[in-house]
Amino acid sequence: MTELHLWLRHEVRSTERRTPIVPSDARRLIDGGAVLTVEESPQRIFPIEEYEAVGCRVAAPGSWVSAPKDAVVLGLKELPDDPGTLIHRHIFFGHAYKRQPGAEELLRRFAAGGGRLLDLEYLVDDDGRRLAAFGFWAGYLGAALAVLHHRGSLRAPLRPTSKEQLDEALQAPGEAFTALVIGALGRSGRGARVALHVAGLDPTAWDLAETRDLDRRALLDHDVMVNAVLATTPIPPFLRDEDLDDPARRLRTLCDVTCDVGSPLNVLPVYDRVTDWTDPVRRLRKEPPLDLIAIDNLPSLLPRESSTDFSASLVLQLLEFETGGPWGRCLDRFHQACRELGIAEGEFHDA
Ligand SMILES: NC(=O)c1ccc[n+]([C@@H]2O[C@H](COP(=O)([O-])OP(=O)(O)OC[C@H]3O[C@@H](n4cnc5c(N)ncnc54)[C@H](O)[C@@H]3O)[C@@H](O)[C@H]2O)c1
Repeated sequence: MTELHLWLRHEVRSTERRTPIVPSDARRLIDGGAVLTVEESPQRIFPIEEYEAVGCRVAAPGSWVSAPKDAVVLGLKELPDDPGTLIHRHIFFGHAYKRQPGAEELLRRFAAGGGRLLDLEYLVDDDGRRLAAFGFWAGYLGAALAVLHHRGSLRAPLRPTSKEQLDEALQAPGEAFTALVIGALGRSGRGARVALHVAGLDPTAWDLAETRDLDRRALLDHDVMVNAVLATTPIPPFLRDEDLDDPARRLRTLCDVTCDVGSPLNVLPVYDRVTDWTDPVRRLRKEPPLDLIAIDNLPSLLPRESSTDFSASLVLQLLEFETGGPWGRCLDRFHQACRELGIAEGEFHDA
């Protein structure tokens, strides 16, 4: 591969303990000829010493702003508000192509500095399938939280944990109940089904075929439902307000892993805001009760496992970092987003 200088940045969000590249994969990149600079980060689940031990250079948190211009800055979540102009290539989840709040502003910062966004959500293979994703652990955690809440053993605020501890809680004796996973064949859906099995349950699994002619009565007859679909075109909602008001409803706990609230693609337009680690559960109806869990950063609750899986996929792509293939598609998507918003891009010089 051409020499790549990757700069792994500290995450500004204090609850974000994940990392896109774990130390063992950092070693693979260095063995493959890359240079890796890793910023110190108090909350990252892997200590800086583990990166140093495999040959990474160490830098101060936030020092990417003065990194060499050819460095590719790697992170997961949002950038800090400063600097106003971005000169580097950045790999992270920008959430900037679906008109999300702040999206245009972010793209303008790139355009002003001549930098480029290589958005991890758009790192896809020739068939459009995501090459690195956190979905499995999102589904696993969503279903786990739903089980614990349904059994009365969920404690707030939520804190990052380990899989061993989580599984121990799931396996504690508790009542059996019926659970439904929608989007069951996807990454999150698989994770949800595995967690439910760990809890001793045998969930009903629905995907596209089962929702084509949606049986809402059957849906409402489950005690717990986990929504893990990735809708790409608007479809009729799985639940409407009148379903929640149905006195015969058996459904008591609804976990929306998808969290498309506010989007035209939302299949659960029965709530208007997500929940979070501090208040993970919100009551949607009193009688019969119905509780909602809709947390949009679930994998961060298992930072070690989710980072390790994600990194194992991403490192394969980074070993082939080049302008063609998946990274070329990422770059094309960035150019397209700028064009759609009428943003003139600055020229990028990486030398
Ligand atoms: N809450 C979080 O922290 C978190 C984290 C990661 C991902 N997510 C979200 O979870 C969702 C699922 O992600 P994924 O990686 O599992 O996606 P995926 O593409 O792997 O799976 C989605 C599944 O939904 C199914 N599906 C699509 N439309 C459907 C329909 N109408 N009826 C039934 N099934 C349908 C697909 O066939 C597929 O099996 C996405 O919206 C993603 O953004 C949330």
